[in-house]
Amino acid sequence: MATIINGKIIAQHIRNALAAKVAELKKEGIVPTLAVILLGEDPASLSYIAGKEKALAQTGMKSREKRLPADTSEAQLLQLIADFNTDPSVHGILVQLPLPAHINTERVLCALDPAKDVDGFHPLSVGNVILERAGFIPCTPQGIVVLLQESHIPLDGAEVVIVGRSNLVGKPLANLLSRRSLNATVTLCHTGTKNLAAHTRNADIVIAAMGKPRFITADMVRAGAVVIDVGMNRVADTQAKNGYRLCGDVDYVPVAAKASYITPVPGGVGPLTIAMLLKNVVDAATALRST
Ligand code: GUN
Repeated sequence: MATIINGKIIAQHIRNALAAKVAELKKEGIVPTLAVILLGEDPASLSYIAGKEKALAQTGMKSREKRLPADTSEAQLLQLIADFNTDPSVHGILVQLPLPAHINTERVLCALDPAKDVDGFHPLSVGNVILERAGFIPCTPQGIVVLLQESHIPLDGAEVVIVGRSNLVGKPLANLLSRRSLNATVTLCHTGTKNLAAHTRNADIVIAAMGKPRFITADMVRAGAVVIDVGMNRVADTQAKNGYRLCGDVDYVPVAAKASYITPVPGGVGPLTIAMLLKNVVDAATALRST
């Protein structure tokens, strides 16, 4: 039976340390502030944003939420970003994704001041990750590395299989784990992978990040493997009071019986994503202080 990696506890330690840094910044008159932009009313996005804003407040930081109708024009959104870019009281800017179909996401992300790009989605931030340069690291991949390190799971020489090549998780995570400092051997699998199970069965660490409920089954994982579940799928549940429950990309019970370590959903990767966002906002405020 696998050891369950408790993301909430690991995240709480990080948040405590960040609260102390925020208190120091406040002595200098700086309150780290994140501008949060949401277009439309996607329930999952609303819930993510509420979680992020609550965590900011609990750590002594501020959020400035800008909720706009789904039919907001791209020009209006770009103007809002330009305003936040030049506002000295704003240290980080988060544009909640996905954006409505009429908006060009790439143009929007390119409009962010890289110094305020706490999501790490601007192409300059992406390039910095690949080149192993300083810069904002996307929150979920950064959180997964912290989870693995805090759980003392060896990465040097480990065979890691990531399933899912998204810009938010799979691609940056593959780059991070294959850095010289972490030294894992990474295989990035996706919908074009011919024999997925042959790859995952060979892995010391399987990272499921493809957004398909319970896709990774026990026969796809070798005994003793570490399994990290990035999935956050809403599946209908008539027993639940809001009509759904969260479910990961891993078939949790049978996989947990076989793995050495596993992350639950919720309570695994999610809390680390939020903790890393808080860290990036503190880092942004600290760096902007001296400019
Ligand atoms: N949508 C899903 N995850 C994220 C995230 O980490 N940041 C933003 N901006 N949007 C998201």
